[in-house]
Amino acid sequence: MKNTAITVRPMSAYTGAEIFDVDLREPLEEQAYLEIRQAINDWGAVFFRAQNLTPAQQLAFARRFGTAEEDTHVSNMTGVDGLPEVKEVTKEADDLRNIGGFWHMDQSFYDLPSSFSVLYARELPPNGGDTMFSHLSAAYDSLSPGLQKTLEGLSGVHVRAHADSSGINSAASGLSFEYYVESVARFAGMEATHPLVAMHPESGRKVLYFSPVYTDRFEGWTRDESLPLMKYLTGVLGKPEHTCRFRWEEGSMAMWDNRAVVHYALDDYTGHRRMMHRVTVNGPWLERC
Ligand SMILES: [Fe+2]
Repeated sequence: MKNTAITVRPMSAYTGAEIFDVDLREPLEEQAYLEIRQAINDWGAVFFRAQNLTPAQQLAFARRFGTAEEDTHVSNMTGVDGLPEVKEVTKEADDLRNIGGFWHMDQSFYDLPSSFSVLYARELPPNGGDTMFSHLSAAYDSLSPGLQKTLEGLSGVHVRAHADSSGINSAASGLSFEYYVESVARFAGMEATHPLVAMHPESGRKVLYFSPVYTDRFEGWTRDESLPLMKYLTGVLGKPEHTCRFRWEEGSMAMWDNRAVVHYALDDYTGHRRMMHRVTVNGPWLERC
């Protein structure tokens, strides 16, 4: 297959598209690359079926879209096949902790978060383990002009340690309180401030750059002051019309734009193992409006 006529099939009104008629083992010709790039700009996330990739081939595909990140600093995910950029993301059958089981964009607690994430399925549970996506431009566009204007003046403080918490002084589902306390200490100070409304550098659309978990508060506001508005925005992100749900199969690969969508790894397959390979790349970041 020469990847000269790919097919793009949207999955919902705003979010996600499946791409067919492409074999990612082959180097992407320029036209196919541009069409995939356009699809991800239009839909925030794209999905490929029935691929049969080595870690090196997955990495080569990801590198068309930016510089692959090694990011061994905060992660316990190790490189695969001697490729530090290809991380193994595993949930064991007896693991109670679910990685990424909340609406988030990858690495938003860094000043320069990942632009794209490329996730390839290696081992899947018999059912469950889907990933959901919600488009940050659909969320922004759905707000009233008055609220849009108010939010454009705000910034969100994104805090790494919140991934392991479920509110003040409490551990996230499946974690011990001791693990939570250790996590808060380990990731103390790992946070970044980003505009709450920003312009996507490629699509030119405005996005609501908000994660209900990583966003601790609005800059200059207390957490208590921030929570009521954050609760409202959480409902906007989670509105079913703004989302799509991807069901993984053997050979599935997803690529999403962390500047355009949030994602949510469903925690519904306890007792089964799930193993994925992830590559993240960085590129031009969001622009303040
Ligand atoms: Fe994630």
